[in-house]
Amino acid sequence: MKIPVHVGIIMDGNGRWAKLRGLPRTAGHKAGAETLRRVVKEAKRIGIQYLSLYAFSTENWSRPESEVSTLMKLFDSYLDEAKGFVGEGDRIWFAGDKSPFPERLRTKMECLEQDTRDCGGFNIILCMNYGGRDELVRAVREIAAQGTPPGDIDADMIGKHLFTYPAPDADLIIRTSGEMRLSNFLMWQSAYAEFYFTDTLWPDFDEKALNAAIEEYSKRGRRFGGI
Ligand code: IPE
Ligand code: IPE
Ligand code: MG
Repeated sequence: MKIPVHVGIIMDGNGRWAKLRGLPRTAGHKAGAETLRRVVKEAKRIGIQYLSLYAFSTENWSRPESEVSTLMKLFDSYLDEAKGFVGEGDRIWFAGDKSPFPERLRTKMECLEQDTRDCGGFNIILCMNYGGRDELVRAVREIAAQGTPPGDIDADMIGKHLFTYPAPDADLIIRTSGEMRLSNFLMWQSAYAEFYFTDTLWPDFDEKALNAAIEEYSKRGRRFGGI
């Protein structure tokens, strides 16, 4: 089976999963965090090298304050145990501007990045306060701030200023919960990605579901504009 190097996952449907069970949305987010652990492990086992996980978008701040603060608490405890499931030799980093997060959380994010900086057999990119447009605006600002002559700017240079650098372009984007949109995820990186949509809600996604997505990916003919 052809294994994608870089997989991005839009982990959607926590709220609906909870609603179906008559539970508060928070319960869906908790169940979703459990799925995340399992999927990270399986992705590593099957040989995916870069796994980008959309955990919180730049637009998710518009949710009710109570939901946002619950998510922050959940991220906080999740990051405590992240080292445990990330495993020896794995690298973890965050895509997105960290500055709006509570200081406690920011410190944990920075420590994890620092501690795993020199690793990189398997790479987990947690996209938090991530937005594809925000990422591109920042990249362009950085390039401009360096005084780069406009004629020197090329796609390769922009790629090097993205939050996901040094991950290569995404090969496969998976979105759960039946929605068929990108919602501002990896816009630049998914220019030639394969897309896989499933109705399964994120808390119900599991090892088998990930393997089904990879199997479907391995059947796709990728041409990159060629023949
Ligand atoms: C995805 O699940 C998790 C986040 C965006 C944080 P949702 O919370 O969007 O769940 P639905 O889409 O409302 O079911
Ligand atoms: C995308 O899901 C963001 C994450 C999964 C973190 P949303 O639930 O926020 O996306 P929309 O609002 O349905 O497009
Ligand atoms: Mg959603």
